[in-house]
Formats: sequence, C-alpha cells, structure tokens
Amino acid sequence: MRLHVVTFGCQMSVADGEELASPLKGRGFTAVGDADTADAIVLNTCTVRQHAEDKAMSFIGRLREWKDKDPERVLIVAGCAAERLGPWIQKRFPYVDLVVGAKSIEDYPMIVEEALGARFDALAETRQAFRPTTERYREEVPLPNAVGWASPVSAFVTIMRGCNYSCSYCIVPAVRGRELYRPYETVMAEVRAKVALGAKEITLLGQTVNSWNGNEGGRRIRFPELLRRMGKIEGLDRLRFESPHPHFVDDDLIEAMTATKPVCEQLHLPIQSGSDRLLKIMRRNYDSARILDQTARLRSAMPLVEVSTDIIVGFPSETDEDFERTLGLVRSLRPSWSYTFKYSPREGTESAGMADDVPDAVKEERLARLNALCDGLTEEALAARVGKVVEVLDEGGGFGRTRDGFKVSWNGSGPAGRTVKVRITGTSKRILKGESDERA
Ligand code: 5AD
Ligand code: SF4
Repeated sequence: MRLHVVTFGCQMSVADGEELASPLKGRGFTAVGDADTADAIVLNTCTVRQHAEDKAMSFIGRLREWKDKDPERVLIVAGCAAERLGPWIQKRFPYVDLVVGAKSIEDYPMIVEEALGARFDALAETRQAFRPTTERYREEVPLPNAVGWASPVSAFVTIMRGCNYSCSYCIVPAVRGRELYRPYETVMAEVRAKVALGAKEITLLGQTVNSWNGNEGGRRIRFPELLRRMGKIEGLDRLRFESPHPHFVDDDLIEAMTATKPVCEQLHLPIQSGSDRLLKIMRRNYDSARILDQTARLRSAMPLVEVSTDIIVGFPSETDEDFERTLGLVRSLRPSWSYTFKYSPREGTESAGMADDVPDAVKEERLARLNALCDGLTEEALAARVGKVVEVLDEGGGFGRTRDGFKVSWNGSGPAGRTVKVRITGTSKRILKGESDERA
C-alpha cells in the first residue's frame, strides 16, 4: 500500500507524522511523495495559527476529487486541528475516513494500522469514526524499525508532549494537554536504536523541550544532563533540539551544549516580542534583557552558534513603541533565521478575550518591516558563508545541512550519512550552493 504523509504545521507535527508512519515502513507500506499515486493519505494538521488551520482545511476540500476517483482510498486527518475541530471536520468533509486528535498521539500507530488494515475488508466500520482522546502515556514503546519516514540519516525523537505554560495567545496547551515526559530509558533506547539503524543526526522534540526531566534509579535527570549522556552514544554525529523555552536556558544548558560534541551550534529561541510590557501580557516569563544576557553567554561559550527565533506582530494593544522594541531586540540578537507571524486570536485562549485592536493594515505593515529586517539578517548570514568550506551531513542526492542549520546543495553525492566538506560558491533561494571534491 502506498502511503502519503502530509503535514501543515510545525516540526512537532512533522515528527508526529513520522511517528505515525514509521512503524508501517517495511510492513507492506511504502512512502510516496504525492497524493496522486497514494492509496492512503495521512494529513497532519496544526491549529496554532488560523492560517495553518485554513491551509489544512482547504487541502481536505481539494481531496474530495482524489477520493471520488477511487472510494477505496483512505483519508485520515490527524493532529491539533483534528483535536479542536473533530466533529466539525466529519460533518464538513463526509468523505474523510478517520479523524484522530493530537491527544491520542500515543495511540497513532495502532489507530492508523487498524484503519488502513480495514481497507481490505470492512472499511465501512472505520469510516467516520472520531477517536476520543486518550490523554494517557504509553510506557511500553516498541523500538523503531526505521530511522524515520523522510530521511535515512536524520531522525526526530519526541521526548515530551504537551505544555504546562499558558502563554496568553497560545492554543497548544488546550489541544495537546499538559506536559508528559518520556522516561529517560525509553528516550535513550529510541536514540540508540535509530543510530543502530543508520541515523547520524537526532533532533529531540518537545513543545518546551528543555523543560524535560526524567530519572534513573530515583535520581533526577534534567535536560542538560540528557544531552551530555546522549552525546556519548557511539555513532551519533549530531544532536539538535527544538523548541527550547527561554525560561530554561541557563548556564547548565549552555555548558552541556558546549561540552557535548554532537550538540550542534544552533539554538532556536522564540522571543515572540521585544517589548517587556507585551512579554508580560503574553505571560512569557522572561524579558528582553534576559534574552540578550542568555545569548551573550551562549555566544561567548560557543562562538560558532547561530540563533533563530519566532516573533508575533500585532498582539493586542501593541503600540508603535512596542513594535520598535521588537525591531531593536532583533537587531541586537541577529537571528540567522526568523519565523514571523501576524497575531491571530485562537478560541479559548486568554488573549482571545482581549480586543484584537491592532488594525490588519497596521499588522501587515509591521510584518513587512520586520520581515525586511529579518530577511536582511538571513541574507547576511548566507553571504558570510560564500567562499568558506563547511561540513555537511549528506542526506542523499547532494543535499544536506551544516551543523549550524543551513541547507546546502552541492555537486554529486556519495552514500547518505557521510559528513562531507563542501566549498560554498553561492546561494540560491536561501540554500547554500557548493562543490565538493570528496567522492564516495
Ligand atoms: N497568533 C500568531 N502566532 C502565534 N504563534 C502561536 N500562537 C499564535 C497566535 N495566536 C506562533 C508563536 C510560536 C509559533 C509556533 O507560532 O510565535 O512560537
Ligand atoms: Fe504555547 Fe507558550 Fe507552551 Fe510554547 S510555551 S507551546 S507558546 S503555551
């Protein structure tokens, strides 16, 4: 059976999609990159911003034709928007076979296998079932039988789910529930198993990944210690993590990043705003001075580190002065990559009760100014690499990434998984282009 997994959302959702699909690999299922040739589609949805949700919903709408062509095809809609809108999706798109919300993630592999297996006999039984949330935590996790769905050498490992914060704009705690940490032994076993299957790079994932903690024989292990221990796994070349919460970026984490060789020189630090007044209303638990202090200490300990960030513009009551402070923080922080968003109120969040009083035209104008600044910084970072030799993990097909998070495409390629030295000759569409003399 040919399975197409599509995600409209963050890395977390991409990883959920992989988690859902990976166990099926090599068990009669093959991954295909487009809907046309697929027998089944798993669509992973996101509800963090209205825009992401709208994109997923219009994609489901377009799949009516795909489904009409062969009613035997299976369409499964999963993830955060499925959690929020489950019954509505069923009513609006009656041809969807199964809607399964983000709080049932622990049971995804089972649910999907069951639904797809039913294609051969009684599909009608699974059609239109809405899975109630389980919200429980699976202690027994089967070891993976594949590195991942998408890459033979780079894998995601989710170490925690949910979020205990209550940032006033954010719907995540409502659709994903409170924090659940995967036990230390389970996480280590999964990473070891993926490395044994050929993974060279692991990205640890969680909504606030650095709030993870676990224990070994009754002794508490915090996230920095997890990095140190994971860094010792033989054969693991690169270790990344996403997304850390600035609240938990402390000297211990900086020391662990610096001292653990596989930890890549990259930190995603979502600042959201540069206005301390807004950061308070957003309930972010830090101020701009703290962000600058953390990154200054990180950069002096790890001079090659690159920082990326997330920023929201047009949060309720944002004034020109607040926005100027955001621009100011970005100028000081100099992120190499920035993900910028126009504020959108999400149902049930604290800020949805505040007046969405920044006119759309003002939001647009601020977003454009912010993007111009951020794009300039990205271009500068890319240009600074031209003429240099960088280390790239070959992910196959002459494509890979540097340790500090830049995509690289170069001439020729050996087997995926090697680290190749590439001389950067130029850039195109935010990808570094290069040449390598190394042959397999
Ligand atoms: N409106 C706009 N952006 C949002 N984000 C989260 N919630 C909202 C919202 N209601 C952004 C934040 C977060 C990223 C994943 O999405 O910047 O870090
Ligand atoms: Fe949302 Fe804040 Fe939790 Fe991030 S830390 S998932 S922004 S509530």
